[in-house]
Amino acid sequence: MEIIHVTAECYPVAKAGGLGDVAGALPKYQCALGHTAKVVMPMYRTRFLYDNEWELVHEGGQCLGQQWFHYSIIREKTNKLGFDLYLVDINGLLDREKVYGYDDDIERFLGFQLAVCDWLVQWTNLPDVVHCHDHHTGLIPFLMKHTYAFNRMAATPSIFTIHNAEYQGWIGWDKAYLLPAYDTWKSGLLEWNGTINSLASAIKCAWKVNTVSPSYMEELRYKAAGLEPLFEYEKGKCSGILNGIDTQVWDPMTDPLLHKNFDGQTAKEGKRKNKKEVCQRFGMDPEKPLVVFIGRLVGEKAADLLPDAIRNSIYQHHAGASFLILGSGEPVVENRLNLLKEQFSGFVNTFIGYNEALAHQMYAGADFLLMPSRVEPCGLNQLYSLRYGTVPIVRSTGGLRDTVKDFGEWQGYGIRFDQASVEDIVFSLQRALELYYQKPDLFQWMRSYMMQIDHSWEKSALDYIALYQSTQLSV
Ligand code: GLC
Repeated sequence: MEIIHVTAECYPVAKAGGLGDVAGALPKYQCALGHTAKVVMPMYRTRFLYDNEWELVHEGGQCLGQQWFHYSIIREKTNKLGFDLYLVDINGLLDREKVYGYDDDIERFLGFQLAVCDWLVQWTNLPDVVHCHDHHTGLIPFLMKHTYAFNRMAATPSIFTIHNAEYQGWIGWDKAYLLPAYDTWKSGLLEWNGTINSLASAIKCAWKVNTVSPSYMEELRYKAAGLEPLFEYEKGKCSGILNGIDTQVWDPMTDPLLHKNFDGQTAKEGKRKNKKEVCQRFGMDPEKPLVVFIGRLVGEKAADLLPDAIRNSIYQHHAGASFLILGSGEPVVENRLNLLKEQFSGFVNTFIGYNEALAHQMYAGADFLLMPSRVEPCGLNQLYSLRYGTVPIVRSTGGLRDTVKDFGEWQGYGIRFDQASVEDIVFSLQRALELYYQKPDLFQWMRSYMMQIDHSWEKSALDYIALYQSTQLSV
């Protein structure tokens, strides 16, 4: 099949979150299965652009309201990423340093979506599916089906994947003039609660919709920032497909960023060495269990609970563990964590910022990874942690619930709790410490067991192909 992924992010070209990881890996695995997967994304001003060679494949023009714009599409020449990568250049609109966060993001991503449709509609043979990711590409299913200019694509199946339903791409009706001419009887397909809602429109118009875990899809029917009835209504075409991880990049046996490589058999010794390095660097005792948090310091990840939870745990468990936090986000949380680090120096440390190498070293050296997320559509960190033999402590939500089994259950290998609350986290940390100090054999068993669980992309890539094929049946 020929599949076109349309996305705002794709690792290593440009990444702001997990979406980038998925868009950089899934197409590669689809190509490995013998399909032709291509990625098209905006051309931002990133390092990758300057470090690689490009060829111009198409030029065209479109209108954003009264404003005509020129766009060009360039292709990376060497198939470096394992799939064809196309960038859309719209002068002045997309070529900026950051992916998101500009006042004119509405115009930027609308321009991007229009350029993509305008390019695709001119192909001699249309692709078999157009696979859109998150709200920045959410209007494409509507554009393909209901605008006159792109009508040739009305019979081409569109797939929409929701990586996070909290962000929906709201556009006031006062900006509707930016859209190309469409059948106004179909306006309802753009709208939710009085505004144009890109995510809602995609759910209504795409042929199939999926989230990145089955549990998250279930949850959205009860809690979806206002879209609950829509998920309930459209449930027939909705499903959940778990993300995989790139097991070539994330392999403790070959990972060049680690101090010592290891596998399931050598995990005990290998992890001990990695832990020693990390603890030395951050001034902590390597004899104590090391609990880490890696991720954005925002409410969605429940990072605001960390300072109190860590403090309470240190008091209640007599400083039985060390804590290391890597990430950045809300300044209040960053400051509170830094205060904690001063107060409990030797037990708590932080690295405020983003550091890919350190993240790898922390997965390898830590004993436990804490993920108390309030919302977690899939979550990749717990999957990296499993692969690196680090026991995940997670809140039972979305993808965390689908990938971590509590050790109280038969063949469980993680720790799960229900509420995003300080109490639940502290209680889970207590269970972690008991496991570490009192049940070392079980702890070792869990490590080697979880390291061999298969979360590779091979399986998920096949699930997506099956999803695409189900649209062919319904033609
Ligand atoms: C978003 C979600 C995360 C998911 C990722 C990739 O970042 O918050 O849970 O793993 O997208 O799908």
